[in-house]
Amino acid sequence: MLTLENVHTYYGEAHILQGVSIAVGEGEVITLIGRNGAGKTTTLRSIIGLAPPRRGRICFVGEDITQRGPHEIARRGIAWVPEERRVLPNLTVLENLRLGRLGARRGNGAESFDEVFEFFPRLRERIAHKGRFLSGGEQQMLAIARGLVARPKLMLVDEPTEGLAPLLVQSLTHILGEISRRGTTILLVEQTLEVALALSHRLYVMDQGRIQFEGTPDALRREPAIQQRFLGV
Ligand SMILES: Nc1ncnc2c1ncn2[C@@H]1O[C@H](COP(=O)(O)OP(=O)(O)OP(=O)(O)O)[C@@H](O)[C@H]1O
Ligand SMILES: [Mg+2]
Repeated sequence: MLTLENVHTYYGEAHILQGVSIAVGEGEVITLIGRNGAGKTTTLRSIIGLAPPRRGRICFVGEDITQRGPHEIARRGIAWVPEERRVLPNLTVLENLRLGRLGARRGNGAESFDEVFEFFPRLRERIAHKGRFLSGGEQQMLAIARGLVARPKLMLVDEPTEGLAPLLVQSLTHILGEISRRGTTILLVEQTLEVALALSHRLYVMDQGRIQFEGTPDALRREPAIQQRFLGV
């Protein structure tokens, strides 16, 4: 569904991604894991057109999207749930969800939000509340829900469990698994190894702008040296 081939991305003169190659198959949950500053978010920003690569190629369902803009990439069916969540504080849950639908693929705008409320019943209860009155966990749920209402083929989710209490991490892990089982492909950035191992079909370990390891959760479990060197486990 998505391939990155030898992607090089710069911020100004800083050479951040140094030849990243990744493949995400339809229906998979693929996780990017690695230390702070490894280049995980930059990889997602490269995919959605916010940090276009200087070299290399990104293809999505058979089309080259390397030099497409963010709006066009969104319309093709890639949703991005950013690290900072970006829930709009003065808009209600409902209004935030309506915003998520704006950039959606055409012809998907008519239905209600019932489907996302099945994943996040708590959001239905909070539908008239403004973003700023939501807890951190509820904001994260809303950020994911806002991505989902666009009915993406592929969802990029950046560190969804960061800063959440263990019980919430558990429930969010379960929900992401459920979203995947119901047909959305997920490229996840996740620093919590246990969450990454539980959810992923395959993982990519990233360090200093390069992929240092690729494999299944079982393969990574068998590599304590990799875990220690790149993940500090
Ligand atoms: N807008 C920017 N301008 C210049 N340098 C940046 C910018 N954003 C990130 N960087 C640098 O690029 C490198 C990779 O950053 P990136 O945000 O992709 O890392 P990350 O793996 O997502 O880290 P974290 O786990 O902290 O979110 C870092 O060295 C960072 O300082
Ligand atoms: Mg990041």
